[in-house]
Amino acid sequence: MSGRAVPALEGGSPVRAERLPFFRSSFGDAEIEAVLDTLKSGWLTVGPKTSKFSDAFLAATDLPFGVPVNSCSSALLLALKVLGIDEGDEVITTPNTFTASVSMIHQAGASPVLADIELNTYGLDPAKVEAAITDRTRAILPVHYGGQACYIEALREIADRRGLLLVEDVAHGFGAELHGRHIGHHGEAAAFSFYATKNLSTGEGGYLACANAELEEEAALMGFHGMDRDAWKRYGDRGGWYYEVKRFGYKFNMTDIQAAMGLVQLARAEELRDARTKVVDQYQSAFAGREELILPITREGALHAWHLYVPRLAKGTLRIGRDEFLKALTAEGISPSLHFIPIHHHPVHRAYHGDIGESLPAAEEFYEGCFSLPLFPTQTSQETDQVIEAVLKLLDFYGT
Ligand SMILES: Cc1ncc(COP(=O)(O)O)c(C=O)c1O
Repeated sequence: MSGRAVPALEGGSPVRAERLPFFRSSFGDAEIEAVLDTLKSGWLTVGPKTSKFSDAFLAATDLPFGVPVNSCSSALLLALKVLGIDEGDEVITTPNTFTASVSMIHQAGASPVLADIELNTYGLDPAKVEAAITDRTRAILPVHYGGQACYIEALREIADRRGLLLVEDVAHGFGAELHGRHIGHHGEAAAFSFYATKNLSTGEGGYLACANAELEEEAALMGFHGMDRDAWKRYGDRGGWYYEVKRFGYKFNMTDIQAAMGLVQLARAEELRDARTKVVDQYQSAFAGREELILPITREGALHAWHLYVPRLAKGTLRIGRDEFLKALTAEGISPSLHFIPIHHHPVHRAYHGDIGESLPAAEEFYEGCFSLPLFPTQTSQETDQVIEAVLKLLDFYGT
């Protein structure tokens, strides 16, 4: 073993004494001041900033219609319900996602069907989606994994040809483009997340982009108790106590406090994306040519938003498996993560789908080697260098 640094897990010294977190917030003085101004304004829930944010979000993404909501999970459920998804319907989705994409299909009363992924973008494989269509299939729900477009044009073509709806999960995709346009415009609806770690954050929050004005109107109604006017119209200039409840709706509205943060983050969007891209460029050039790693690629025509940086360990190149590798990385003072434990590995989803790993070989292969490295806008180049040093140290030590 001489000449090779000994991993901290094996008794050597760690690369970092103080652990580098997987994520650190990018909120600065501007977000803090915007929240304080909002608190002082008295508009604590839905108010002028929520509508201002909605307009600014649509302008920034060039999407036509939509409503700001309290999470991407809410946006997904709302999308499925306003599109009429119900009991007896099947919705085809991906195993490589967070539970919300699939749980919301259950919450809508429908049955999720998992189709396999492809190993370029790690999103749904269009051929596998087509093969999973039955008489009961009503919609396809793809995820733009990690911040780049999946093969959404092919999915749109299948949906059109087979008479299906398309609901895009764009939780990771704020800032991502395909052929020069922001992603989220292929589906009848597209759900964005503004959760703490996301590329645009409001702490918690989301947005449901809609393909037309009718869907937007229905989503606004269903997302706020089925009431035909929201709080600021009721208590603001246009006054009045009267409202009508037209639907059995949800309480999914965004608040002005969230919108205030969102407006600042929108103004900083380019700066935040550039900072993420810089970290990724540093990783990609340091890891290029290492046979132990399969690096993420950007598909043709896409601008990657780099929500996640996910390399994979190449089979048979290390004496240890991925789980042990992540333990060793953690011992070096680096906090890795993993996106995602496949849906059908979780107890509740497993109870529903059964043991279907064999029918999802690409998802299994991806899971066997994948891991996520720290990637956030305030990550310094020295911190990125330390992550690189730790990864290379482990590859050198554990290489076969
Ligand atoms: C792919 C995907 N979809 C949906 C969600 C749910 O987002 P939210 O936390 O805003 O509800 C997440 C959350 O991380 C996600 O990763």
